[in-house]
Amino acid sequence: MRIFKEIQSIQNWCKEHKLQGRKIGLVPTMGYLHEGHLELVREAKRHCDIVVVSIFVNPTQFGAGEDFEVYPRDFERDTSLLERENADAVFAPTAEEMYLSDFSSWVEVTGEITTKLCGASRPGHFRGVTTVCAKLFNICLPDLAFFGQKDAQQVMVLEKMLTDLNFPLQIIRVPIVREADGLAMSSRNVCLDAEAREQALVLNRALGQAERAIKDGERDAARIKVLLREIIESSPRAEIDYAEIYDAYDLADIQQIDRKILMALAVKFGKTRLIDNRLVEV
Ligand code: PAF
Repeated sequence: MRIFKEIQSIQNWCKEHKLQGRKIGLVPTMGYLHEGHLELVREAKRHCDIVVVSIFVNPTQFGAGEDFEVYPRDFERDTSLLERENADAVFAPTAEEMYLSDFSSWVEVTGEITTKLCGASRPGHFRGVTTVCAKLFNICLPDLAFFGQKDAQQVMVLEKMLTDLNFPLQIIRVPIVREADGLAMSSRNVCLDAEAREQALVLNRALGQAERAIKDGERDAARIKVLLREIIESSPRAEIDYAEIYDAYDLADIQQIDRKILMALAVKFGKTRLIDNRLVEV
């Protein structure tokens, strides 16, 4: 497995593979890899000849006072996990390599898709994500890029960017990977103390019960949102950032559940903010 720190060298390497007609898959990550990331790598291996995994804790997608400094990092462990999955290359640039001191170009998807949910609670977050992903796509030249459905809004925003700006690649969405007890895998789970880890199970439980209510015939989005909140609030340490239901394609508001919907949660346990979601089709 090759490890690249410099943009020029990985870009040349990827160009060479493209010239040889190889299909490149990119798995963008911020490291501290877990089973969810490894599933993205496996899916990429199934679809592509060459799999590149980027590891970069992207400063521009963190707001002031967020967890950029304390975001977990373990490069040695990440690379040994990726060796085992037969990834072909890791791209792990420094922040200085990615953002030159006079950096001043941004890629921003505007509208409801970026102003709701995490866009409302984390202003500027998606601008950081789309900018870094546009850079990663230009550097690694992937045919396919793999993203987890856990970050449902992120995937929607990135797909919009690809369409609007005619990026010559496709995104493959990979389903959420959960721990045995239902907690969605996240690099931030290690930041939970034992009690918060236990209480965090309420996210998946709330989504499951709300889905069951919809399947049993409830069509009123407002009532489902109340149900989600009631269940989450039964955990004393849970502090809801949002518990929302929107159209699954464009995050439009809905009153009646009469199409595919996204139920999306963001809940804080102390300083740790977790997200989870579920797509439901009626
Ligand atoms: O989902 C993530 O880990 C990040 O937002 C991404 C896509 C790697 C961009 O920094």
